Amino acid sequence: MNKRRVIYEGKAKILYEGPEPGTLIQYFKDDTTAFDATKKAVLDGKGVLNNRISEFVMTHLTSVGVPNHFIRRLNMREQLVRKVDIIPLEVVVRNIAAGSLSKRLGIPEGQSLPRPLVEFYFKNDALHDPMVSEEHIAAFGWATAQEYDDIIAMALRVNDFMSGLFAGAGIRLVDFKIEFGRWFENDHDMPRILLADEISPDSCRLWDAKTGEKMDKDRFRRDMGGVTEAYAEVARRLGIIRESGEETDNVIHFTGGSK
Ligand code: TMP
Repeated sequence: MNKRRVIYEGKAKILYEGPEPGTLIQYFKDDTTAFDATKKAVLDGKGVLNNRISEFVMTHLTSVGVPNHFIRRLNMREQLVRKVDIIPLEVVVRNIAAGSLSKRLGIPEGQSLPRPLVEFYFKNDALHDPMVSEEHIAAFGWATAQEYDDIIAMALRVNDFMSGLFAGAGIRLVDFKIEFGRWFENDHDMPRILLADEISPDSCRLWDAKTGEKMDKDRFRRDMGGVTEAYAEVARRLGIIRESGEETDNVIHFTGGSK
């Protein structure tokens, strides 16, 4: 095994130095955590599924013009991505009340929201990712006014596109969390905002459109079992894997040579 330099290790992924300047290798672990990693498990095959699902979503987002860090998948657990400086915000978009919104405001889970809500949380585990407003983001310089506007516009575009993508697979996109980074293309002074991190059942709430059954990480958070089975069902419905679990070839590749 060749030794690669670890740039960052998170709870569910590892970032290694990439083969070319300005790139990183994003490795998807089977490790799963919740509630600031007070709850932990290793779920066999979860990383493989999230690598494929995130590839699928990011590739489609590229095709509709949402700039993101994904370059190509390298193997079962790794993808090549652009190196960005992560903005320390978790951006949550909600279509249906659930999770912390229901808890905080007493809105019953499952109630449709009058319009999509965009929320910001400061990425800091020690502080339990506290919710912040535009005021905090501006005052503490986490993003410029232009970046803030770009992030909201991109988050809503991601929501529109993904809602349709999942609806076509019989799945309701309840809410999701995304992260953004600054990309210094060819070392230009002015960075571009790119969607980064991952989009997978670890970072979305996905409910079966007919039965309402949960197909996301809430199965782990709430001890419901069948976590990877649900992720595999998401992948099957999106056409990423076949009934038997093997890969299909109808995944679009814009960057070529991704196997
Ligand atoms: P919440 O209802 O707990 O605030 O979660 C909103 C969405 O964000 C949900 O789809 C799960 C996702 N999420 C993460 O991806 N990471 C996190 O650390 C948290 C708290 C939520």
